Amino acid sequence: MEKIIERAKSLEDYIVKMRRDFHMHPELKYEEVRTSRIVEEELKSLGYEVVRTAKTGVIGILKGKTPTVALRADMDALPVQEENDVSYKSKIPGKMHACGHDAHTAMLLGAARILAELKDELKGTVKLIFQPAEEGGLGSKLIVEEGHLDDVDAIFGIHVWAELPSGTIGIREGPLLASADAFRVVIKGRGGHGAVPQFANDPIPAAMDIAQAFYKILVREVDPLEPVALSVTSIQAGNTFNVIPEKAELLGTFRTFNEEVRGYLTKRMGEIVEGYAKAHNVEASFDLTIEPIPPTINDKSLAEFARETLQPLGEIVEPKPTMGAEDFSLYLKKAPGLFLLLGIRNEEKGIIYPHHHPKFNVDESVLWKGSAAYALLAYRYLEESE
Ligand code: NI
Repeated sequence: MEKIIERAKSLEDYIVKMRRDFHMHPELKYEEVRTSRIVEEELKSLGYEVVRTAKTGVIGILKGKTPTVALRADMDALPVQEENDVSYKSKIPGKMHACGHDAHTAMLLGAARILAELKDELKGTVKLIFQPAEEGGLGSKLIVEEGHLDDVDAIFGIHVWAELPSGTIGIREGPLLASADAFRVVIKGRGGHGAVPQFANDPIPAAMDIAQAFYKILVREVDPLEPVALSVTSIQAGNTFNVIPEKAELLGTFRTFNEEVRGYLTKRMGEIVEGYAKAHNVEASFDLTIEPIPPTINDKSLAEFARETLQPLGEIVEPKPTMGAEDFSLYLKKAPGLFLLLGIRNEEKGIIYPHHHPKFNVDESVLWKGSAAYALLAYRYLEESE
C-alpha cells in the first residue's frame, strides 16, 4: 500500500504534465483523436495490450488470471470558451476541459504506470477504460455493447469534484447521481383567427394544463421522501397576437435516483398527455428524446472496501447525492462498481468555480491521490477476491 502511495507521489510531475497537455488540446465527444493516440502510445510503452473501442476510446489490459477489475476515466471536453488566465489555457477556441476529464485521463495514466510496475504481483486482470463521449454521447453504452464489461467483476471510476475541499475523497454507497431523461410533448389543434376561437381548436390551453399537471404528479403522486427534479424548460406555440396556432410543443427533463419512480413518471406523463388531449379535443404525443441515463447506484460492499482501502490517502467524506447524471451508470448495469469523488476545490488558489463553468479549474496538487486511489483499488480488489 505504502509503495503505491509513494510511487503515485513521485509521479506527480508526470500526471500534472499530462493533464496540462490534455487541457491545452481539448476534444469534444467522439473527436478525442489526439487524446486517445497519446493514451494508446503511453499504454503500449508500458506493456499493455491495447484495444480500440467506442470510436475514439482506448482500453489497456494487463492480462492475468481472473478476477478482472476495471478502472474508468473519461476523456472528452465541452463546448465552453475558457476564461482562465493560466499558462496551460485551452488552445482551441470554444472548447475546454471544463469538467476535469483531462485530470481523469492523466490520473488513470499515472495509475497505469504504477500497475504496470506491479504487474507480476497482481492477482488478476486489470482493464483501464479510457472512455470517449461522457458529455451527452453515451460512450459507455458503446463500450458495454462491444462486450468489454462482460468479464469485469468490479469497476471503479473517479470524478474530480468542485464541491469538495481539495484532497478529500467522497465515497457514498447507494444512489450518488441521478437518472436523466428528456421529453417532448407535441400538441396538434386547428389554427384560426384569435377573434373567433369557436372555429379553431387551440392547442395552447392543452399545453398549459399539461405543464401544470406534470408538476402536480410530483406533489400528489410521488413519495415526498423521494427526490425528483422535473422541469418543463420550453413551451413553444404561435408567433403573433391574432392567430391561433396549429401546434404547441413542450420540452423538459426529469431526474430521479429511483428506477421505479423513473418508470412511474414516464408512464404517468404519457397518460396525462393522452387525457388532456381528449379533454381539449386535440391530438398530442409524448416522447422521450434522449437515450435515458440510469441513476448511478454505488455498490455497498465496494463502498466499504474503498473507505478502508483509501484511508491512508486522507479524509474520507460522504458526499450529498446530486441531480446531475453520469453515464458510468451504464457500466453498473453490467457489473458492481463504485463511482467516487476527489475534492479539488481550493479557495486560496481561486479554484472555486462549478463544473462546466468557463473558469472551472482543478487543484493539481491532489491529482496524484487520484492515481494512487485508482491503483490501490485495483491492486487490493484483486488481492482480496483472489
Ligand atoms: Ni464530468
